[in-house]
Amino acid sequence: MSAAQPCVALLSQSLDMRYLVPAFEAACPGIDWRVRDDLRDVADIDAAVCWQPPQGLLNTLPNLQLIQSIGAGVDHIYADATLPEHVPVCRAVDTDMTAGMIAYVAWAVINRHRHFPDYVANSAQGLWRESPIVPPGEHRVGVAGLGRLGMAVAQALATLGYAVHGWSRSPKDRLPAGVTGHHGAAGLPDFLHGIDTLVCLLPLTDETRGFLNTTLFAQLPRGSHLINVGRGAHLVEADLLAALASGQLAAATLDTTHVEPLPTDHAFWRDPRILVTPHIATRTSATAVARQTLANLNLVRAGQMPDTRTTRANGY
Ligand code: GLV
Repeated sequence: MSAAQPCVALLSQSLDMRYLVPAFEAACPGIDWRVRDDLRDVADIDAAVCWQPPQGLLNTLPNLQLIQSIGAGVDHIYADATLPEHVPVCRAVDTDMTAGMIAYVAWAVINRHRHFPDYVANSAQGLWRESPIVPPGEHRVGVAGLGRLGMAVAQALATLGYAVHGWSRSPKDRLPAGVTGHHGAAGLPDFLHGIDTLVCLLPLTDETRGFLNTTLFAQLPRGSHLINVGRGAHLVEADLLAALASGQLAAATLDTTHVEPLPTDHAFWRDPRILVTPHIATRTSATAVARQTLANLNLVRAGQMPDTRTTRANGY
């Protein structure tokens, strides 16, 4: 650190990161913050707070000690092949972010399971018409990805009474009550069998890119609902359109797409079975980003590793 206060660079190619400044100033009065267009002396910069940071930039900060994601995902940081390998990359963990994700996924599951799109249409026409009511315990929800967010979502859905199955790359020691676990490639067919709603909360890695594809959809019961709150690149878009056209899938709720914002002429906007939301499932509060960045920087300077440190090999 070159000055009395830490120097934090706020770096993104797609977001105006200045929304974080009041939270950093509240957490650390007098903090030296820099934005991408005005980095001044890059040797001052101790920590970089990132969302899709410009490629190649982090490697040009000679005294960088911490790379902090504003989100739970770090794929947007590891997309840069030139990252300085010795600098820890940390993800954000935030109870409000977790609560936001639980609320979004619970809404998306309930919306289709209880046929609310039909009620919205019926209500507009003054139609009193009942759709089938299936008890939550007879509706199987599969949560792919049992990291912090996936685990919390699985637990909340089980609490709502849904029959919840979870799938992860490796086995989990402890699962919330009411959640049945599956793992690895060998566990995937059992996991997918009988799922009415599939929720994707996987990290984006080389292994999970394109996970949501025709082969996987074919292992779901006909007429299931896909919810993607992971990353757009988990989904093979043409395979989703084909699965909807054939009736293999009945509906999709997508909070994330390959290209964001989703172009106005994209086929997803025109398919009434697809509901797209603009990557709003949840957010990390600015206060949590500021606090975690400063706490992680202190840990790193004290020679310790934050427990939110990620690795390129894992991708999370
Ligand atoms: C948002 O998408 C995140 O990574 O938290």
